[in-house]
Amino acid sequence: MKTKSYSPTPHNLRRLAAALQRGELVAIPTETVYGLAAHALDARACGKIFKAKGRPTNDPLIVHVLDLAHAEMLADFNEPARKLARRFWPGPLTIVLPRKSCVPDIVTAGRDTVAIRSPSHPLTRRLLRVARIPLAAPSANLFGYISPTSAAHVLDGLDGEISAVLDGGSCTIGVESTIVDLTDPKRPRILRPGAITAQELQRILRTKVSERSIRAKGAEKNTGLIAPGMLSQHYSPRTPLIIKAGWSTAQLPEVAQIFLRKPAGRFARNVFWLSQRGALTEVARNLYRVLREADHAGYRQIWIEALPDGSGGLATAINDRVRRAAAKRQRGVP
Ligand code: TXA
Ligand code: MG
Repeated sequence: MKTKSYSPTPHNLRRLAAALQRGELVAIPTETVYGLAAHALDARACGKIFKAKGRPTNDPLIVHVLDLAHAEMLADFNEPARKLARRFWPGPLTIVLPRKSCVPDIVTAGRDTVAIRSPSHPLTRRLLRVARIPLAAPSANLFGYISPTSAAHVLDGLDGEISAVLDGGSCTIGVESTIVDLTDPKRPRILRPGAITAQELQRILRTKVSERSIRAKGAEKNTGLIAPGMLSQHYSPRTPLIIKAGWSTAQLPEVAQIFLRKPAGRFARNVFWLSQRGALTEVARNLYRVLREADHAGYRQIWIEALPDGSGGLATAINDRVRRAAAKRQRGVP
């Protein structure tokens, strides 16, 4: 199968919508990362996602919808969940709620909950409008590897595995959505940190939002299921990645060196940076692209500068991804 990259003409959007309705896979741009989409109510189509990514079937998928009205067809909403959807959708927030019976088991990995979000990327919203179906979509990378933030990244991992990618340019946020579990409306829990922070959720819900599970290391060992968003090794380059503080660019030409901000003065090819001046939005937007570039350049190791812990906000999400990317490979993860 040859993978084709499509520009967003009205004709192409109609073609891709028809392909999705027929049960084919299409990689789609979102504001966070690219997703690998299939018709969410078609179990066979969703099965292809797991095959293409090499993803274990006990890791459930996020369903993408146009708005709250469509989301309510798939899940049992409570008032706190509606409040969050009204405030943060379309946007980088995924809400976990009890599922309705129309959602296939393969999407939820047999759980009685479903994860839903309404993406803000204008092209994917146009696609959702034309296709008129919900789209199940995990990130469009091989399982365990760095998430894609451009159409070229998608092809890098999945060329030949899928028929189409919709090219929507580079993702503006760059790290995956915040996942909040509202199955128990009295006890909201963040399962994965993202651009929407615990503080922002708390302000709307007026209750404590727990982040406990983020640090529950090794939790996947204790259950048969993969604890959502909690695989301790994930988002990883193939080159060993080491988190470091305080070193100078002059050292070690065989090591790719990733700094938070562009270093001053002259430096060699092995020096990379995540932002001009350290802005966290820019760091998040560039993180996966720079990790990929460093990984592809054939260095023995990659060093990445540590972000101060406890800076809160987007730093929590960035630190979470960098830590997982640097965690030692576990058995069974490619
Ligand atoms: O920003 C994003 O969320 C991107 C874009 C494409 O929307 N998607 C994404 O999907 O990051 P993925 O599959 O790479 O991560 C989805 C996470 C997984 O950790 C999965 O375990 C969790 O969502 N998840 C899915 N369904 C769940 C459920 N019912 N309960 C708890 N966690 C769930
Ligand atoms: Mg992923």
